[in-house]
Amino acid sequence: MRSENAEQKLHQFGFFALIVFCALCFLAYTYAGKSGAPVNTLAQLNSGVVCGTVQDFPGTIILGRPTGNEITFSLLSSVDIAEMYVTAESQVAPAAQTSVFSLGAGSPTTITLSGLYPNSYYYYTAIMNFGGTSVCSTMHGFQTQRSPGSSFTFAIIADTHLGNDFLCNQDRYKQTLQNINDERPDFTISIGDDFLADLPWVKGTSEVQKIYLSQRPFLAMVGQDGAVFNINGNHELQNGWLLDGTDRNMAIMVMKARLAYYPNPRPNNFYSGASTPQPLLPGELTENYYAWFWGDALFVTLDDYLYSSEGKQWSYSLGYDQFTWLKSVLPYNAGFKFVFHHTYGVDRGGVETASYFEWGGLGLKSYEFTKMRPGWGDQPIHQILVANQVDVVFKGHDHLYVKQDHPDGIIYVTAPQAAFDPDGWKGGSNDKTSEYTAGGTILGPAGHLSVEVTPDAAIVSYIFSRIATDSLKNGVNGQVADQFTVPRKMRYG
Ligand SMILES: [Fe+2]
Repeated sequence: MRSENAEQKLHQFGFFALIVFCALCFLAYTYAGKSGAPVNTLAQLNSGVVCGTVQDFPGTIILGRPTGNEITFSLLSSVDIAEMYVTAESQVAPAAQTSVFSLGAGSPTTITLSGLYPNSYYYYTAIMNFGGTSVCSTMHGFQTQRSPGSSFTFAIIADTHLGNDFLCNQDRYKQTLQNINDERPDFTISIGDDFLADLPWVKGTSEVQKIYLSQRPFLAMVGQDGAVFNINGNHELQNGWLLDGTDRNMAIMVMKARLAYYPNPRPNNFYSGASTPQPLLPGELTENYYAWFWGDALFVTLDDYLYSSEGKQWSYSLGYDQFTWLKSVLPYNAGFKFVFHHTYGVDRGGVETASYFEWGGLGLKSYEFTKMRPGWGDQPIHQILVANQVDVVFKGHDHLYVKQDHPDGIIYVTAPQAAFDPDGWKGGSNDKTSEYTAGGTILGPAGHLSVEVTPDAAIVSYIFSRIATDSLKNGVNGQVADQFTVPRKMRYG
């Protein structure tokens, strides 16, 4: 039970914070009204003049699970914070704030902010009480679910391979994230190979946590201003064939770390997704595949690994539950349908591999889907995507950008690697061009994909990331290396 003195302090703290935040919001409203600029006013608002003690949050903030009226903050502080709360306000909606809570140094904590209005951009700040001194964190922002007919942007990154110095130049990775941040996307989807649990020094829980921790400062560069969605790649080792019934195998250790540090969606009245409990994660859901609506688009993410019994051919599987779930979400009406995953079960390539095994039904000699997946229906994954008019499948794994138009009407896109050397790629060991025998638009690293969704079309752009040590011969930073348009399918009545 709190002492009277403590309660009094808390009230004083809350009152001080309320005054500060009201002043900030007034300035935000005034400035935005004068300039007409809706969001990029943070530098003006965080001059420190009003909130006398404004400082960066002493750690990392990553946003997740945005809905029409909620968002989740994943907070990791380097110092103990006796009391804090997060408060947010938009230009059109009343303020919302979390409950007051304490934050221990080094303990990742999630807190949900509720009572938000949909289709709104919110500024937020954390009000922190350090032993009686109140401090406001630097203001950041986020977007709640867009309404149908809205225009918005989201970003995609792939294969960051942080921790492998050959595949990830950290300066270039930061530049990629900065390029994303400059676009102010509503959210960023990372499609795997971000957490290298298979590095040789990773042996147990503490090393796994180090791996997941090491990405926080990077992903927070975009994640404090818009949600991040994670998808498992092969290097995350959340592989079904590693499960041994104990909690000492890598698949479970890695899953626990992901759940602790990165809040991904779990099924509720906004998200659909993995609902089958994993017995070794009591009280948790696996948060490894999920779907949601945003504006006119349906987003569907898949996990290629947790339900696979081996890393090849027919042993790679979504598993019956995920496969059945995919069939249940794709028929929903949407102007655009996007599917995201790391790679097909048959390793590298785009349309070249879409015909095989669980994805396309062909075995090495003949069509085998109904024989190999009895009771799963007549259609493998690709045919289900075609039947439901999926527009684009985004994958990673091959460390280059490829855009291919499948004759069945789906665009298959391999997302570029975020941070590889653009000058050392061609012809080197990281050049997987030869896997793409069917051709298409093929470009080397590094950078991200930016997708602008409008009521009439989605425009997908590959944006180069370059740093000072890169030559100019393979493009410049921020260059639109490729761009294509996906017309909206008029699925609504
Ligand atoms: Fe990779």
